[in-house]
Amino acid sequence: MAQAGLFITFEGSEGCGKSTQIRRLADFLLSLKREVVVLREPGGTPIGESIRNLLQYDESAGAMTPEAELLLFAASRAQLVREIIRPALARGAVVLCDRFLDSTTVYQGVARALDASEVRVINEFAVGETLPDLTFLLDLDAAEGRRRASARKGPSDRMEQENESFYEAVRQGYLKLVAEHSGRFALIDASLDEESVELSIKNVLMERFQIQGGVHGIH
Ligand code: TMP
Repeated sequence: MAQAGLFITFEGSEGCGKSTQIRRLADFLLSLKREVVVLREPGGTPIGESIRNLLQYDESAGAMTPEAELLLFAASRAQLVREIIRPALARGAVVLCDRFLDSTTVYQGVARALDASEVRVINEFAVGETLPDLTFLLDLDAAEGRRRASARKGPSDRMEQENESFYEAVRQGYLKLVAEHSGRFALIDASLDEESVELSIKNVLMERFQIQGGVHGIH
């Protein structure tokens, strides 16, 4: 029988440890002999990576309007969904994506204060029926996240130049989303050490997808 694909996304503000936890979960799933596809947004396809570069580092991007920014994130996602995510899920792979449509809801819809219903329509247009089965929110105090992000990286990208209140709005926006969609989200305390966060993530997977030496539907 064909294995069911599983679509898992990771959300959270800068410095919350998403990429570390995605790597750890990918290793765990690989040890269960599953095909794992690790992606990031914006990006993950040649078109998406060009859009990422434009959004984050291009000299002209300083003049970018919030509306254009929204559409570029959506364009990258529309490509990723059709070029990579849907075929991977159809093969039965586990897709782990570093950010997805919730980032747009929160960064553009809340922190940039674009109209929430317009953001929803554009999000729906970009992804169609392809929604995550499970979304981990790695929640962290906004100032602590900024400290962690600036400690580990070289040049900061355009979004990282935003001020504290932007990142506080991001955090509150995510927490509100979790409250509204508690069935899809798992709220993870990202202030803990890496091992504890990894354990919390695996525990959620066990609860929701019944791991028994392997993840059911994943086994
Ligand atoms: P990251 O890959 O380091 O997380 O950077 C991506 C940046 O882009 C981050 O600041 C969040 C932002 N972003 C949005 O504003 N909207 C989106 O839809 C996505 C996917 C990312």
